[in-house]
Amino acid sequence: MEWQNKNQNRTHSGFNEENEMKWNGPYFFIQAADCQLGLIQRYIEKNSEPGWQKEIVLTKTAVEKINSLQQKPRFFVICGDLCDAFPSEEPALRAEQERDLKRILSNLDPSIPLVCVCGNHDVGNQPSSADLLAYQSAFGDDYFSFWCGGVFHIVVNSQFWHDRSLVKEEAEKQDHWLEEQLKTLNNSGAKFGIIFQHIPWFLNEYDEVDTADAYFSLRPEIRQKWLPKFKDAGVKVVFCGHYHRNAGGFFEELEMVTTSAIGGQLGSDESGMRIVKVFADHVKHEYFPFSQFPEKVLLNM
Ligand SMILES: [Fe+2]
Repeated sequence: MEWQNKNQNRTHSGFNEENEMKWNGPYFFIQAADCQLGLIQRYIEKNSEPGWQKEIVLTKTAVEKINSLQQKPRFFVICGDLCDAFPSEEPALRAEQERDLKRILSNLDPSIPLVCVCGNHDVGNQPSSADLLAYQSAFGDDYFSFWCGGVFHIVVNSQFWHDRSLVKEEAEKQDHWLEEQLKTLNNSGAKFGIIFQHIPWFLNEYDEVDTADAYFSLRPEIRQKWLPKFKDAGVKVVFCGHYHRNAGGFFEELEMVTTSAIGGQLGSDESGMRIVKVFADHVKHEYFPFSQFPEKVLLNM
């Protein structure tokens, strides 16, 4: 299949809104993060030559594991850092990584919508307008929402909350849009909401301070502004990546889930993906390394 960006006009064409606004019984999807083609060789192995053969194998494994599931997931979401090279610093390398990534992801069963989320490596730690445009032309909208099975799903670009200094206007646009999405969630009869983004709001505790210069989670003042709004609007879970380890915690009843990487690991987890089961009043999820990824998903609990 040839690559096509499905997330445009602030929604995702893989979901028929009219049908998907209704609850139709439990469903499941696959959530993953950080295939990040190029990280292992550059950052973990400290090799001065760029290369991403290991991530190619791991991302292919991800696609094969999903395609061979006995029941199809409703979608496959990758929560950012699709590739490693920063677009403005190494555009040629970035283009090669994106080409290889798209070639692999194009083998995903075409009936399973692929949902791409924007990570810091996809637009740079301090994104410019040009970085955002490059991302949008490569992968489609960097923020959008879609209905699936009576649940409202919101994808956001967390880089706007990490550093908006060069893209203030665009960042405010997302903030405004997000406020509107939360109103929609609140007023539309959704069972609840689920958010996907790259950088976690926090790793384990709502009031933690990330001492590593706020790299792995968003700053407390931004957290305090948005998480109460999410909770009040009916968001149940926020799924993230970026940490290359599994983590998670709660802000009151709002759950924060950080999923380890398809690609390079920075802790003791193994490369894998999370299976997320959505029930009428709760969400159950479990991370599986590829070596233990099941062939069957039971929705009876
Ligand atoms: Fe990241």
